[in-house]
Amino acid sequence: MHAVGIDIGGTKIAGALVSDEGEIVRSERVPTPAGDPGAIVDVVTDMILSLSQGEEVRAAGVAAAGFIDEQQATVYYAPNISWRNEPFRDRLLERVSLDVTIDNDANAAGWAEFRFGAGRGVSDMTMLTIGTGVGGAIVTDGRLLRGGFGTGAEIGHLRVVPGGLPCGCGSRGCIEQYGSGRALLRMANEIADVGGIGIQLADLRQKRGVLTGEDVAALIIERDAGAMQALRELGSWLGQACASLSAILDPRMFVLGGGVAAAGETLLDPIREAYLAHLPARGYHPEPQFVTAQLGNDAGVVGAADLARLHFLSR
Ligand code: BGC
Ligand code: NA
Ligand code: ZN
Repeated sequence: MHAVGIDIGGTKIAGALVSDEGEIVRSERVPTPAGDPGAIVDVVTDMILSLSQGEEVRAAGVAAAGFIDEQQATVYYAPNISWRNEPFRDRLLERVSLDVTIDNDANAAGWAEFRFGAGRGVSDMTMLTIGTGVGGAIVTDGRLLRGGFGTGAEIGHLRVVPGGLPCGCGSRGCIEQYGSGRALLRMANEIADVGGIGIQLADLRQKRGVLTGEDVAALIIERDAGAMQALRELGSWLGQACASLSAILDPRMFVLGGGVAAAGETLLDPIREAYLAHLPARGYHPEPQFVTAQLGNDAGVVGAADLARLHFLSR
C-alpha cells in the first residue's frame, strides 16, 4: 500500500507518494509560504490531494520540526518557527479523508534510515539531524521511541553548557546551539573575525561583511583551514553529546543526517574523537559505529509516509 509523506522544511515543503518498500513513486516540492500556519495547511492539503489522486492511498504522514503530542495531531511547540499548539491534523482532516498523522521531522528521517537506509537491520540506532536545528530520532529494540507524552527524542535540547547560549526552546546551553548548521555558521564567523588561520574564510568575511551557510559549505569542500576548524569544533560538541546519549541508550549505531552531514568523514572524525574522549567506561564495553545517513533529503518524506502507513495498518 502506498502512502503520502510530506516534510515541512524552513524553505521548502516536500511531498512524495511512497511505496511500502520505501520507494518514491512521485514527488512534489514547493517553497514554504511565509506567514501564518494556515498557508502551510493549504499547501500541504493540495499536495496530499494531488499525490494521492488516482491511487489507493489510505494514509498521509506529515513531518514537522517541533514537539508533537502523543496523538500525533498537534505541534505543541516549534523552536525555530512560530508554531504554538497548532492542531495541524484536525485542520488537515477538515479537507482530506485519509488517515493523517503528524510526526517530528527527525523522527521521520530516523525511521526512514532505520527501515530503508544506513540503519537497516540495526535494532538500536540513534540519529541526529544537523540542519538549522539539531533533531533526534531513537530506535530502540526496533521501535521508535516517542516517550510518555509524544515529545521524546528531542536530542537537540540536551543541555551541554550550563548557562550557555539561549535556545529557541526557551532554555540555555542546548546542543542545538553548538552542534547545528547555524552554530557552524556562527563558529565560522567567529574564526574569520580572529583571522590568522583560514585565510579564505577571513578574506570572504571581509568582502561580504558576514559569511553565509553556502560560503562555509563551499570552503569545507575546499578544505579551507578556518572552515575545517569550525567543523571540528562542531563535531567535538556533537561527539560529547553522543557519549552522554550512549550512557542512556547504548545504540549500536549513530547515524548523522541533515545538510551538514554531507561533509561526511570530515564531520565524523571529530565526532568519533570527542565521543571516545567522553565515553563512560571507555574500553570496557562495545562501541557503536558512526555513519552518515543514506537517504539525504528524501528521508523525511519516506519516513513520514512509512510511519503513516504503519499507523493506518495498526488501527
Ligand atoms: C526541534 C525538533 C526538530 C529539530 C530539527 C529542533 O529545534 O526542537 O523538533 O526535530 O529542531 O528540525
Ligand atoms: Na525527534
Ligand atoms: Zn533548546
